[in-house]
Amino acid sequence: MIEALLWKVCDLITLKMNQELQVDEKSSRKDLVSNVDKEIEKFLIEKLSKLYPHAKFCGEESYQKMNLFEGEVWIIDPIDGTNNFIKQHKNFGMLLAFMKEGELLEGYMVDVLKREMFVAKKGQGLFKNGQPFKVEYNQKLSDSLISMSTDYLCSLDHPQEINHKSFGIRYIGSCCLDGINVVDGSLGAYLVSKSQVWDIAPHLLFCQESGLVALNLDKQEKTLSDDCVFVFGQKEVVLELIDLIV
Ligand code: 2AM
Ligand code: CA
Repeated sequence: MIEALLWKVCDLITLKMNQELQVDEKSSRKDLVSNVDKEIEKFLIEKLSKLYPHAKFCGEESYQKMNLFEGEVWIIDPIDGTNNFIKQHKNFGMLLAFMKEGELLEGYMVDVLKREMFVAKKGQGLFKNGQPFKVEYNQKLSDSLISMSTDYLCSLDHPQEINHKSFGIRYIGSCCLDGINVVDGSLGAYLVSKSQVWDIAPHLLFCQESGLVALNLDKQEKTLSDDCVFVFGQKEVVLELIDLIV
C-alpha cells in the first residue's frame, strides 16, 4: 500500500522536476527549498492521513514541534538532497519512517530516479523493490569507500589520513542516497555531521533490521532524539573510522 503510494510520488516528482522550479532561501544562500519539496510533502500528508487517520506528521517543510514518541507518527523528508535536486536535477531521494509509541516500525529510502525502494520493517528485515534484501556486511576500512561532507573532512586535523587508510572518499550530499549506498554495501560507512530526524529516522531502523550500526563518536548507539555527529555503516568500518577521527 505505502510502496504503491511512493511509486506514484516518484512519478510526480519526476514530472514536476521537468517543469520550472520555484526556489526560496530558508536560513541561508545554501539552505534552499523548492515548490516540489512543499507540494510533495503536502501530497504525502494528504494521502497518508486517509490511511492513518490518527497519525501525526513530522515533515521537513511543515514541521511543528511535537512529541514523536507518543501515538502514530509519520516522519517525512519529501526531497532529501534539495540542493542537488535544484542544481543537478539528480542525486536526491525521499525518506519516510513510521513510528508508533516511540518505536520505529517502517523505514523507506527511495532513489526516485533509479526507481529503487529500500524498506526496513520491524522484525521482518530489509526489502528492495518488494523482495527480501540481504548483504554480507564484513568489510574493513582499508577496503571500504566511505562518505562524509567536505566541510566535515576539512575540519579534521588529518583529513588525508582518512583517504589513505580507507579505499577512498565519495560523497553525494543526500542522507538518502549516501544511506542507500551503505545499505547496498557500496559504501562501508557514511559519517552524518548535520541531520534532523527526517534525514536519519529510516537509517536507525535499517540498523535494527541488518548488521549495520549507527554510532556516535563515543561509539554509543545513535538515537532519534540526539542530534550528534554519527557514523552509519558496517560495524568494523565504523569503529575503525571513529578511531581515526577522535
Ligand atoms: P535536505 O536536502 O533534506 O535538507 C547533505 O546536505 C545532506 O544533509 C542532505 O541529506 C540534507 O538534507 C542533510 N542536512 C540536514 N541538515 C542539514 C544542514 N543544516 N545543512 C545542510 N544539509 C543538511
Ligand atoms: Ca528535504
